[in-house]
Amino acid sequence: MKEIAVGLLGFGTVGTGVAKLLIENQSLIQSRVGAKLVLRRIADIDIERDRGIRIEKGVLTTDVESVVDDPDIDIVLEMIGGEDIAKDLILRAIRCGKQVVTANKALLANQGKTIFKEAAEKGVDVAFEASVGGCMPIIKSLREALVGNRIQSMIGILNGTCNYIFTKITDEGLHFEAALEDAKQKGFAEADPALDIEGVDTAHKLAILTSLAYGVEIQLSDIYIEGISRITPLDIEFAQQFGYKIKLLAISKDLGSSIEARVHPTMIPFNNPLSNVSGTLNAITVAGDAVGDVMLYGHGAGMMPTASAVISDTVDIARNLISGSVGRIPLLSFQMDRIRKTRILHIGEICTQYYLRFFAIDRPGVLSKVSGVLGDNNISIKSVHQKGRKTDGAVPVVMVTHVASESSVKKALSEIRSLDVVSGEPLLIRIEEEENDEE
Ligand code: HSE
Repeated sequence: MKEIAVGLLGFGTVGTGVAKLLIENQSLIQSRVGAKLVLRRIADIDIERDRGIRIEKGVLTTDVESVVDDPDIDIVLEMIGGEDIAKDLILRAIRCGKQVVTANKALLANQGKTIFKEAAEKGVDVAFEASVGGCMPIIKSLREALVGNRIQSMIGILNGTCNYIFTKITDEGLHFEAALEDAKQKGFAEADPALDIEGVDTAHKLAILTSLAYGVEIQLSDIYIEGISRITPLDIEFAQQFGYKIKLLAISKDLGSSIEARVHPTMIPFNNPLSNVSGTLNAITVAGDAVGDVMLYGHGAGMMPTASAVISDTVDIARNLISGSVGRIPLLSFQMDRIRKTRILHIGEICTQYYLRFFAIDRPGVLSKVSGVLGDNNISIKSVHQKGRKTDGAVPVVMVTHVASESSVKKALSEIRSLDVVSGEPLLIRIEEEENDEE
């Protein structure tokens, strides 16, 4: 029986899950691959801690480079995370002619171009299913299952931490900080949770998917990113009253001559299946011109779901090695010379519906002043809601608009902010809903 040797870099949460599957499911995997996948080396700075797996003598090392350089290793699994060291090790593995599997979303979003260029030149595979959506096979879907389609849009919940926070606030009335602490305890949040909260982790994932779906070059800086920290329980309550849930969404749309790519808190109607994705779960809806909508749903993080995606890549590569077909599937789904540059829309150029919330003095004529500003900016109001009644001080007022241009909405909000009857900073939340879908 042919043996394929695997070297694992990083024996943390995901690395441990990967080792567990390679060891405990070895015979199952072997019967699917037709070769024995042998976990030959594992490198980590901590090789003393008991991870609850029996590792054979001589497998563990603290010397990562010895694993990458080992001529007997066929596939290197990079599960270290971070950018600089991981990048150097991946490039070194590629230059040694090894196949690479990585879960490193930040690295691929920021420096993927260098890695994929080197891999293509060297003729090796770099697989990265676990970088987006944990166990959901979204990358395999884009690179293989949906290749006959022109992908039109992708809308997803790609960060378990933010989704968990919204769910806890909505369902249990928990405070933001308590919900975040909970997510940290559960091991979902990034080492720097600001990456989750500020939407950057979601944007890393969206950059990877956008490039695969449409065959375009995209930088992280092309993506509009807005986090969840300004959303209050009051907004969540208003959203419910209007028939919406608030989710941090990754949205990308192919508009033909340009692309929309944005990450921000978004209101979605209850009848959108994404509104029922709760807790740490992830989900994504992909629209293709042949398939219509396809939805994937599952655990976007965690030891074993992420390990499952890493093993999927490892098995694909092992099968390619056996059949001599490395490079069969283009790294970024499109042939390298067909990846195009395109215009990514500035957020001011998008058109959608909006939820606007501000605090206004409760006295006659105030609403007409505010709606006058919106009307002057060509923004049509769909519904208005005011909470409470106060003769002194401000009350929250919310408005939902019909589709309007973002630049007009921003201009109107800055005019509303300067009205003497309005206090504080107005808030805008975009709504993702086809106007003709409304009841
Ligand atoms: N911090 C990420 C999340 C982990 O919360 O979804 C998975 O990428």
